[in-house]
Formats: sequence, C-alpha cells, structure tokens
Amino acid sequence: MWGGRFAEKPAAAMQAINASIDVDQRLWREDIEGSKAHAAMLAAQGIITAEDNAAIQAGLDQIAAEIAQGTFQFSTELEDIHLNIEARLTERIGEAGKRLHTGRSRNDQVATDFKLWTMRAARDAGDWLRALQKALVKRADQHADWIMPGFTHLQTAQPITLGHHLLAYTQMFERDRVRIVGAMLEAAWECPLGAAALAGTAYPIEREATAAALGFHAPAPNSLDAVGSRDFALAALANLSICATHLSRLAEEIVLWTSPQFGFARLSDTWSTGSSIMPQKRNPDAAELIRAKAARIGGAFATLNAIVQKLPLAYAKDLQEDKALTFDAFDSFELCVVAMTGMIETLAFNREAMRAAAARGYSTATDLADWLVRELKVPFREAHEITGKIVRRAEDAGVAELAHLALADYQAVDPRITEAARALLTVEKSVESRTSYGGTAPERVREQIARWKETFE
Ligand code: ARG
Repeated sequence: MWGGRFAEKPAAAMQAINASIDVDQRLWREDIEGSKAHAAMLAAQGIITAEDNAAIQAGLDQIAAEIAQGTFQFSTELEDIHLNIEARLTERIGEAGKRLHTGRSRNDQVATDFKLWTMRAARDAGDWLRALQKALVKRADQHADWIMPGFTHLQTAQPITLGHHLLAYTQMFERDRVRIVGAMLEAAWECPLGAAALAGTAYPIEREATAAALGFHAPAPNSLDAVGSRDFALAALANLSICATHLSRLAEEIVLWTSPQFGFARLSDTWSTGSSIMPQKRNPDAAELIRAKAARIGGAFATLNAIVQKLPLAYAKDLQEDKALTFDAFDSFELCVVAMTGMIETLAFNREAMRAAAARGYSTATDLADWLVRELKVPFREAHEITGKIVRRAEDAGVAELAHLALADYQAVDPRITEAARALLTVEKSVESRTSYGGTAPERVREQIARWKETFE
C-alpha cells in the first residue's frame, strides 16, 4: 500500500512489530461503516462517481459478509484492518476500490473506527452494570431487614441491614454507569473522519455528512486534535477502572463473608471452585479474580496514559497500542461484571451468623449514649464516658452483648439508666432507630428499593 517509495521489503521483525491486524481486526464493522460513509460522501460531493460509489458500497457489504462468515483471509503483510479491507476491496471491484482512500488517511480512519468501537463498548458496559444493579436490588429486597455488623476499620461499629449494604454498591455502580456512558455521549460530539493525515484535505469533502452518517453530532473542529488524541479511550479506561475498584471491594467482601471465620454467606456451587488436595474447600476464585482484574484494568489506563503523555502532535505509531489495552480492559470488565452478577444472584446469606456477629463487640453502645442524651439531656461527651464505663463492665463480666448485661450493672455506673434504656440495646432496635435519610433502618431501605425499582422501569 505504500511500497512505491521503497526498493526493499521490510524485515520480518519490522513487519511483526508493526502489524496490528491480530488485534485490530476487531474493528472491522466500524471500519466498513466508516468507509461506506466516506465513499457516499465523496460521491455526493462529486469527488468520485456514483458508479464507483455503488461498486464500493456493494464490495464493502460483500467483505462484511466474508468477515462475518469467517472466510476472509487476514494478512499480516497488510499490517492492519484498514489495509486488509482496502486491498480486498480492490481485489474484488478493481479500479473503484483504489479511489476509496481519496481525501482520508489511516490516521483519521483509525481514530474514527476506534472511537466508534469504544463508544459502543461503553454503552454495552452500561447495560452489564444495569443487570448487576438489578441483581443487587433484588437481593436487597429479600434481605431488607436482615441484620449484619457494619464496620469501620473492619472493627464492628454499628449494626446495619444487609439490604442497606447491598444498596451501597448499587449506588456506587450507578455513578460508575453514568460516568462510563456519559463520557462516551460527550465523545460523540467530535467525529475525527475527514481530518485526513493531520492537516485536513484539499478535496471539497463534507465532514458534517460523514459525522452524521456515523452517529456523531459534529465533525471534530481541529484536525491535529482529531487524529492525535485518545482521551476518549483514556476516559473510558479511567471510568472502567474506577468501577473495577468498586467491583473489587465487593469481591473482597464476598471473600471475607464466605470464609468459615465470617460465615455470613455461602457461594453457590456454580460460583465456587474446589481444591485438588483439600476436599472440604469451597474457594471464591471468581471474586479473587475480580480483584486481580481490577488491577489489570487500572494497568490498562496507566499504560495508555503513559503512551500518550510523551507524544508530540499529531499521530505517532505508539498510538496503535491503544487498542490491545482497551479491548482487554473491556473484555476483563465484562467478565468481572457478569461474574459478580452471577455470584450476587446466588449467594446464600446466613441470617443467624450475621445477626450474632452484629451483636458482638458491643455494637449498640452508641444507642445507649444516644438514650442518655435524649432522655436525660446528658451532654454527648459525658454520655460517651458513661457508656464507655458500661462497656468495660460488660467486658470484665464476660458478657458478649450489651443487651445481656444485668440492669444492676448499668445502674452501678449510672443509677438513672432504666430497663427501658436497656431494652433499646438489641441490634433490632438499633437498626430500626436509624431512620435518618440514607440511614440503615429497614423502612428507609425499603424506600430506596422502591426508588430503584422505579428507576429500572
Ligand atoms: N494501524 C494503525 C493504528 O492502529 C493505523 C494508523 C496507521 N497510520 C500510519 N500513519 N501509519 O494506529
């Protein structure tokens, strides 16, 4: 395709390092759509004839069918998907095929193809996340009032409801979804096609037409920027990476919850693996791999960012590495979301184990301090001090839950404490009392579940 200037063929290793066809053949649909839009515009502008355009359109459709059927022969010598398709087109339709590349370059071509691919992948990622959110809300609905320990520093803090915990992730994934899809809606405002190699072209092309045909809102206003920028891919990778971090935190909790030490939940057989030596094991491999893949997706962002940050404008071949990183990140991301959805749908929670853990560690101590403030008008700092002494007493007496400590022990610390106060220190009463907006009380959780269900509809 560019042999005219050279007397010798490239070295084998030159070809190997240069070729991207193994990776970028995944852009074939976008490449054909881009070429069809470009050829139609060239004909509408009188730059090629209507007959040539008709031949190009039909030829490209046939090539699309060949690729879809798996009969297309991809060639490393032809470097990338753009040259592979163009060469095949000329093979099929002759002279007209050689006119397709008028007024464009592989630089604007690849930027357009890759941007279209990334926008579609991001839209799909939004759908995968929606399915995960629906699974989370369904489980939250089933367990809106199941009690578990809430942690800070992974130390038992206050009792919470399982529904509340699951909805926390639903909320995080909503911000992720909006970021992932939103960045791509923004990317749609600038179509690179027609920027040509870097400087635009002398042909009277109509960039609005190709932009609209490909679903963009407008042509990119600066040709150097259009061919030399990959921030749409960086944004997608950064956004995937943030979401993968959230997936990884949930995965980490699944690893903890399903350990015999926590015993809060059991993974279904379909989402567990066994050990080749220890017959009793049920391992949470999928959750562990989500943690690892989150690191890999973050790595894709860091790598592409490092590639782009040292490039002078406009296009440089370094940018070719963008696709392997981005494809891999989306593939990993899809697996993570699908696996997480499957695990969430089938996790069996253990109500008794979670409740018992929630009651340990004097998790309702704050409720006693709050009672002292509310009923006796004790300043909070003083109430904290009194409650601290009672916790110490319970610990010394070997009583595991505050609700189980005798009233006499409370009154030994502060005689004003009544049976009514003591009765409030169960984990059930504790979660029921936390009715502030966004709080863990089952009634608040149920309101949020209703809101999510409306959102999904
Ligand atoms: N395969 C190349 C890529 O993915 C296409 C653009 C090649 N442009 C060039 N001037 N060699 O970046």
